[in-house]
Amino acid sequence: MTAQLARKPENTGVMEIIRCDSSAQAERETAATLRRYITRTAKPALGLATGRTMLPVYAWFREWYRDGELSFANSTSFNLDEYCGLASDDPSNFVSYMRRNLFNHVDMEEGRFHFPEQTDPEAFDARIGDSGGIGLQLLGIGRNGHIGFNEPGADRNSRTHVVTLTESTRNANAGDFPAGTPVPEQAVTMGIATILEAQRIVLLATGNGKADILKRAFHGPVSSDCPASYLQLHNHVTVICDGAAAAHLGEPS
Ligand code: GLP
Repeated sequence: MTAQLARKPENTGVMEIIRCDSSAQAERETAATLRRYITRTAKPALGLATGRTMLPVYAWFREWYRDGELSFANSTSFNLDEYCGLASDDPSNFVSYMRRNLFNHVDMEEGRFHFPEQTDPEAFDARIGDSGGIGLQLLGIGRNGHIGFNEPGADRNSRTHVVTLTESTRNANAGDFPAGTPVPEQAVTMGIATILEAQRIVLLATGNGKADILKRAFHGPVSSDCPASYLQLHNHVTVICDGAAAAHLGEPS
């Protein structure tokens, strides 16, 4: 595992890139980073993400909770995004994903985890603000550079809002739905400004399918064409990746 610090010209902050020897090591390192934050903070406020990349991270949380090494009793969480138009108990929505993979298995009480709602997106930013803001935001990255569901073209100043998903994102997520069930066309997501207000951001990317977009996001220009590139504007980002995802990092753009 190697860590590299890059000081971005756009700001005075530090971006840390941690290259791990395997995806398993990257997943554990990500989970351990959140665990350190949770155990050292009186009232942790977590920003959480879904997607296949995060499944092993939540598996670590479940294991550490079972072993008495981690508690979520004092934590509050805010998930990045949710599909529009699905029933609240639809197994393909992100609430169900989080219950299945984390909340049903740990001491996170009902009412302490929050999801944006299409009927009142702005209320989500207000709720985050009321909690004192997100202390650590966990992020994955879409192959087109989306973070949350902020697709290419996303506005730097956007707050939680309803978005229309691109065809490529809907295709990428089709496997999370039963065969023949269409992926919703819309979703509600934290905006770029909402995400950038987190005190610290940890982005996990694994596999060679993420190699091109990681290079664009962190070695390319800050541009709405690649929403993840906005993370260069943040002053405390940690990118954790395996060798496959890091394959093009370090190459000139
Ligand atoms: C999803 C989520 C993102 C996630 C991304 C990557 O659509 N909205 O939060 O980071 O796409 O997903 P995966 O980890 O399955 O590649």
